Amino acid sequence: MHAISIHQFGGTEELIYSKQAKPQLNPGEVLVKTTATGVNPIDWKTCSGGGASGFIEEFPFIPGWEFSGVIADPGDTGYKVDDAVFGMIRFPQPAGCYAEYIAAPAAQIARLPDAVDLIMAGGLATASLTAWQALFNKGELQTGQQVLVLGAAGGVGHLAVQLAKWAGAHVTGTASMHNHEFLAELGCERAIDYHTQSLNEYTNSMDLIIDCVGGDTGIGALPCLKPNGVLVTLPSVTKEQVIAAGAAQKRRVEPIFCEPSAEQLSRIAQLVADEDLKLHIGETFPLEKAAEAFELSKSGHVCGKLILTVNGQA
Ligand SMILES: NC(=O)c1ccc[n+]([C@@H]2O[C@H](COP(=O)([O-])OP(=O)(O)OC[C@H]3O[C@@H](n4cnc5c(N)ncnc54)[C@H](OP(=O)(O)O)[C@@H]3O)[C@@H](O)[C@H]2O)c1
Repeated sequence: MHAISIHQFGGTEELIYSKQAKPQLNPGEVLVKTTATGVNPIDWKTCSGGGASGFIEEFPFIPGWEFSGVIADPGDTGYKVDDAVFGMIRFPQPAGCYAEYIAAPAAQIARLPDAVDLIMAGGLATASLTAWQALFNKGELQTGQQVLVLGAAGGVGHLAVQLAKWAGAHVTGTASMHNHEFLAELGCERAIDYHTQSLNEYTNSMDLIIDCVGGDTGIGALPCLKPNGVLVTLPSVTKEQVIAAGAAQKRRVEPIFCEPSAEQLSRIAQLVADEDLKLHIGETFPLEKAAEAFELSKSGHVCGKLILTVNGQA
């Protein structure tokens, strides 16, 4: 099979598209013929020696933790050949999803209803699980609450806006001005241009803040929390900073570490099939052009998700 791999940490020039051995199945795993795999910031952070690089024990390392595809070998599981599936697997251990075939733990994947587009589903799992766990597990979101999403146009943010709206919340989002129409389509009642507008008028008004940006941006939003509100911060690299600022301001901050969940994925897939949730594809690239997708993701201004198509899928 073909896959993208790196032989050492570095920039996008380290990404090599080459032939690799197909993965072998262990008990409880399925072999998936990949249709698409999503690009997440953790992918390039890890390949450059940050992110989850501490979990890499050997090279070559095949990046990627999420995928969609069809079952090529169900192993000892209840799946059948050609079942359509998607998932985020093994995170933060290496999962090898930038590849034509993936060995996936059956307990961490979910079936895709016929109505769900397979290419789109390749970019769905990580961002939707993160949004779900931030809103409902960490944030304990209730109907009628006020939610602020920092970075509302990005991969996690645009799904968090829709899921919060679906759950009956009132959603405010931050994004560059050119994305404000997009935010309104997603269900934001208010959009804030973080380049020119301050959050001053929102002091003490939010039950939940989903911080997809971190650092000074997350810290700057803390006064927007009601006294019993919570800010869930996503970027691991700045989480200690945001937690410390929260403690100093007596505001609750929760870090998050997205975990695989077949049960949550099944619910998310059904929401997509029912058109209650839509993944916006910023751009697709063929797998061998992963370096171009990394450069775009590194720019920090992707709208929705970037997706790599595999096995000749258009
Ligand atoms: N802890 C976890 O388990 C976990 C899981 C998933 C992701 N993450 C982390 O969470 C972060 C977000 O992930 P993602 O996939 O959503 O990233 P992404 O898609 O690359 O985010 C891009 C978006 O960020 C927005 N943005 C950039 N600077 C901003 C600012 N100062 N204020 C508001 N918006 C800003 C951009 O909006 P405009 O273009 O409109 O400016 C763009 O739409 C990343 O650091 C990622 O590594 C953590």
